[in-house]
Amino acid sequence: MRIIFVGDVMGAVGMQTLTEYLPRLKAKYHPQITIVNGENADNGRGIKSQQFKAILHAGADIVTLGNHAWDKSEVTDLLQNNDNLLRPANYPGLHTPGKGLVIKQVNQEYLAVINLQGRALMAPIDDPFTKADLLLKQIPAGVKIFIDFHAETTSEKGALAHYLDGRVDAIVGTHTHVQTNDAQILPGGTAFLTDVGMTGSYDGILGVKATASVQRFLTQQPTRYEIDDQGRHQINYCLLDLENKNHIQVGQITPDRPLDD
Ligand SMILES: [Fe+2]
Repeated sequence: MRIIFVGDVMGAVGMQTLTEYLPRLKAKYHPQITIVNGENADNGRGIKSQQFKAILHAGADIVTLGNHAWDKSEVTDLLQNNDNLLRPANYPGLHTPGKGLVIKQVNQEYLAVINLQGRALMAPIDDPFTKADLLLKQIPAGVKIFIDFHAETTSEKGALAHYLDGRVDAIVGTHTHVQTNDAQILPGGTAFLTDVGMTGSYDGILGVKATASVQRFLTQQPTRYEIDDQGRHQINYCLLDLENKNHIQVGQITPDRPLDD
């Protein structure tokens, strides 16, 4: 089973980049399923119906979210009406709208997609390790399992990956917007990447205008982040082949690494 996973789509420039390049990536790699993290799609904060539909139209089958899941109020209806939109499963309590697990048929096989969120240097949320244990008990044997772990620290991402090694097929991080070059198959067979990176501005910092970010570090004053919608753009993704022996490969299209098709 071949999967393309595209990292955090950041604002209108991210949406344009996704629309331009995802169909070309799919034509090149022929994935059976495409997953996109869309938690920053609406101007960097959350997702609305229009972006959700546009991400699906660009070629995604499933959209995952993260700590910005709730920034737009209409996401509640979107989550309740669309099985293929996931929010982190470890939001607390029994009454949080939506869900963080979906099982999708892919040709003759099944894929479970799980969205989890980290706790280190992030807002309080339930334990993603324990939540993963509980979710795995709900998934029938033989179903392949992919996790988007939306987390800040490399250590927490590595810890969850090793904790789940051999029990899931792939765990890929999102949220930090910078692609890491550590794709590996863990000893138990799980494919792991600390962070897949973002989709949007290439000249900004994490997708926002560099000037505001630099000013914050220069002055320690709060500054208002704005999406960098001028200039060059990039898309970051990974390719997964989930077979008896799993395989993972990072990819990016940037001005310095143009698409070779
Ligand atoms: Fe995030």
